[in-house]
Amino acid sequence: MKYYITTPIYYVNAAPHIGHTYTTIAADTIKRFKTMQGYEAYLTTGTDEHGQKIERAAKAAGKTPQEFTAVVAEEFRQQWKSLGLAIDFFRRTSDPLHHKAVQQMFQRCLEHGYIYKGSYTGQYCVFDELYVNDAKPGDPCPDCGRPTETVTEENYFFKLSEFNERLLKLFEDQPDFIQPETRRNEVLAFLRRGLSDLSISRTSIKWGIPVPVEGNHVFYVWFDALTTYMSAVEGEDLWPADLHLIGKEIVRFHCIYWPAFLMAAELPLPKKVFAHGWLLFENDKMSKSRGNIVRAMPIVKVMGFDALRYFLLREVVFGKDGSFSYDALVQRYNSDLANGLGNLLSRTLTMLNQYRDGYIPSETEVDLEAWSERVMKLYDAFDFSRALEEIWTSISWLDGYIVQEQPWKLAKSSADGDQDRLDRVLYTAAEHLRMIAALVSPVLPETAEKIWRMLGMEQSVGEVRIDTLAKNKLRAAQKVSAAAALFPRIDAGPAIAQMQQLEEEETVRQAALLGKKPEAPSVAPANVAPMSEQITIDDFAKVDLRVGEVKSAELVKGADKLLHLRVDIGEPETRNIVAGIAKAYAPDRLVGRKVVIVANLAPRKLRGIESRGMIVAASLEDGSPVLASFLEDVPVGARLK
Ligand code: MSP
Repeated sequence: MKYYITTPIYYVNAAPHIGHTYTTIAADTIKRFKTMQGYEAYLTTGTDEHGQKIERAAKAAGKTPQEFTAVVAEEFRQQWKSLGLAIDFFRRTSDPLHHKAVQQMFQRCLEHGYIYKGSYTGQYCVFDELYVNDAKPGDPCPDCGRPTETVTEENYFFKLSEFNERLLKLFEDQPDFIQPETRRNEVLAFLRRGLSDLSISRTSIKWGIPVPVEGNHVFYVWFDALTTYMSAVEGEDLWPADLHLIGKEIVRFHCIYWPAFLMAAELPLPKKVFAHGWLLFENDKMSKSRGNIVRAMPIVKVMGFDALRYFLLREVVFGKDGSFSYDALVQRYNSDLANGLGNLLSRTLTMLNQYRDGYIPSETEVDLEAWSERVMKLYDAFDFSRALEEIWTSISWLDGYIVQEQPWKLAKSSADGDQDRLDRVLYTAAEHLRMIAALVSPVLPETAEKIWRMLGMEQSVGEVRIDTLAKNKLRAAQKVSAAAALFPRIDAGPAIAQMQQLEEEETVRQAALLGKKPEAPSVAPANVAPMSEQITIDDFAKVDLRVGEVKSAELVKGADKLLHLRVDIGEPETRNIVAGIAKAYAPDRLVGRKVVIVANLAPRKLRGIESRGMIVAASLEDGSPVLASFLEDVPVGARLK
């Protein structure tokens, strides 16, 4: 039984950061638990190297695209290698084998009548490599808010419009094709609006795979990139993929374009697409302009890779957005890893050594089968945080059990049965730890291996299979090792300072690699605007500022700067608010976001909509707004004072 997983093929205009690492860690974890379930699991990742964005990045770095992409692709490859991620296929889209696969894919679609020649004039977002239908010159990209560019080209078109019904049927017949449910609903809504044909070739750029037709056409990057999932495993009998793991911003490409291309080529479709949420930094989007991108290496050097893996998969509900912060990382490490798992292991080993010369006592009835099934079920649903919670529940239970049984008293007792009871307590604790090590191994492979060895197990924990795990209990008289600290406690202050220092060094190193100067955060205004006239506290108290949550957001027709928001500020009905933030924020990026509202501002009509309140934002030098937000979770309706 094979199981084939892919991560996105990452763009090489940026060096690897924690966002890429997040997806790749999750994919590695899935590969590990699938292996544990008896599958032969394979993982593909790679680099997406063509297109205008990369061409421009290479030019800015003073390199040819070939030189530039080679350097960054190597950086990705090295990153995954030094982290020990279990990658089987690393495919660069500049690889000639891949070129051939893309051209064949095109040929198949052409032969089946799904490709025609046409002309396109319209708006294009270079950042997202996306044609923006219905946009006018000067309009921002609906996905990233950056300005679009007008392009006119003679192109080859893919008849995407012919796949509307088939795609709807696919997602109805296979309701779990797209997960989580919210993403599926988005795709269905998109399909219901109807699909337009898609231009899949470019003549305006050179850096791409040549289309096998007359003229200088190269492939549209998404036609090229998506095909990597197949080309990477050509001849391996692995297609169709069981799982495409992606971030939520590229769902449309994976759930509409990709299945349509495959249907047109009459090739098998992948079985599932799971889109996880965004990893934010202290609740803010990570971006170059904010200067708040975090890299994995500095964290790994200070805290260890397993600590990062644990944090990301425990703290963030997989599928939802989540926040990274150094504080939260150290806190989780100390509470769950040092005090939780690490402490339990060292306690158990110490007792075994002190009371039983380091030998496992005779076997006792310990039935952990149902519990391990529960954990595996959660892994299977990619619900990593709950799987880990379930494991940590057992750690707490064991802590409580040891306290209750008081083995230190039993050890000194010569009363009838007390030594047998001590054997039972020690065996129960050790057997639990064996199971914990195995079940936690997909997330904490290094730690699990250490625990496994300390318990005196012979094979590697990676060889454990779930169907025999609970039955192959610890053998009596097996020798365990001396106690050792798995996770020494970490002092937050110095550790965070060290990570930040290393982060700065890593930023400089990566910037040099990309041929750039490290960018200073643009949100720090160079000049402070003159202060307004002083007011008293009573003046300020007149302004009723409230925490609100954006429930919906849409562009106001005929106004390119305005968004129409519906904001919940804890009143029975949401408020209509019209805000001039459309250039900086795409509507769907705002839904669910907590914002600050001036709630007692007199209503006024804007473009026919009565706006009841104002959204608070910092105004940067160039006039662009940055919305006020909170690092902690705050309830809707709370007043700001
Ligand atoms: N090249 C395309 C993908 C083509 S796949 C056929 C691309 N590349 S990317 O470099 O922008 O990578 C995007 C992916 O990286 C996301 O879908 C996600 O998997 C991961 N992430 C990058 N930043 C992230 C966060 N801040 N948070 C979570 N995931 C992030 O899109």
